[in-house]
Amino acid sequence: MTDEEKNEMVVTPWEVKGEVDYERLIREFGTQPITDELIERIAKHTGELHLQLRRRLFFSHRDLDVVLDLYEKGVKFVLYTGRGPSGPVHIGHLVPWVFTKYLQDKFKTRLYFQMTDDEKFVVEDELKLDEAKNFGYENALDLIALGFKPEDTFMIFDVKDIDLLYDIALEVAKRTTYSTARSTFGFQDSTNIGWIFWPAIQAVPCFIHAKVAGENVPALIPAAIDQDPYWRITRDIAPKLGYYKPAQIHCRFLPGLGKGGKMSASEPDTSIFTVDQPEVVKRKIWNAFTGGRATVAEQKRLGGDPNICTIFQYFVYLFEEDDKKLAERDAKCKEGAIMCGECKTELRERINKFLAEHQKKREKARNILEKFFIKR
Ligand code: TRP
Repeated sequence: MTDEEKNEMVVTPWEVKGEVDYERLIREFGTQPITDELIERIAKHTGELHLQLRRRLFFSHRDLDVVLDLYEKGVKFVLYTGRGPSGPVHIGHLVPWVFTKYLQDKFKTRLYFQMTDDEKFVVEDELKLDEAKNFGYENALDLIALGFKPEDTFMIFDVKDIDLLYDIALEVAKRTTYSTARSTFGFQDSTNIGWIFWPAIQAVPCFIHAKVAGENVPALIPAAIDQDPYWRITRDIAPKLGYYKPAQIHCRFLPGLGKGGKMSASEPDTSIFTVDQPEVVKRKIWNAFTGGRATVAEQKRLGGDPNICTIFQYFVYLFEEDDKKLAERDAKCKEGAIMCGECKTELRERINKFLAEHQKKREKARNILEKFFIKR
């Protein structure tokens, strides 16, 4: 494989690889960029802008303007996001969840959260159904630890809740042809039929509010952009079923700690899991790929490159609230006034402080998990 082939971008719900060109994704997926104007409109409702909006980590959308039009006319919306529980949660997963919490707090909306134990079971060769279900409950603790409240947060565990989902899934499946699904998801002759039917299940929470609350309102989905193919199918059939098209707001991928690529649980050395202990975090951060030079002398003379530095990206995505301090770090790095070791040490301290708190809340969440089960 040449370097170019290795770097070639692949973004599907099951695989993200190569250098991700977000502008190109907007063009190829046919989504809309998040403009300054739209950001101002959001700010009118939220007051403060979340750092993920200020820094354009959420960069693309479908129908966010439509959802805001409706909201301004008095039609509420619900939030919907989810997780495929095939392993432990890493801090990349927290990026859209933290943002979802912000939207929920500001717009006072209900969240439906889908835990797709069924999806992971059919898609992953080695995963047993009990393991996927168990990861589902474990991963739910991470969501709860972020401060979501049971009154407004309805978690769907697909296998447990299939009776609730099945009628709507059938309506969706009946209106989705194999040829559409194959071209959208790249199914092969060897793809198992569980997987082929499965996209109908991910569509259901877009419409579930009408069933459980008797109100037909649009869903807004904050998620990484790799999930977009699902929504293309769902949006096509929504009007046929008498529902609003679900709207999306898409975020970028948190990079892994290695050179290139997103954080991925299948690469544990370059991923920080929410259950990692301080020494483990220390080791992973210490080995991270940075924009530093080969020697301290060179770095002082020539400066580093924060744009390619994974450590810097963690400050951008999660661990530096203050825009001014972030800009200072960027400038100091480029001037050669700060060395990689210093950034690594500061980041490690912040992550470990965050994780110590998170892990406590995560354990407490065990006692209240059932309060989040979807009420019918
Ligand atoms: N398919 C997603 C995954 O593998 C899980 C998921 C289900 C999801 N519904 C969602 C993610 C809605 C984002 C938004 O992770």
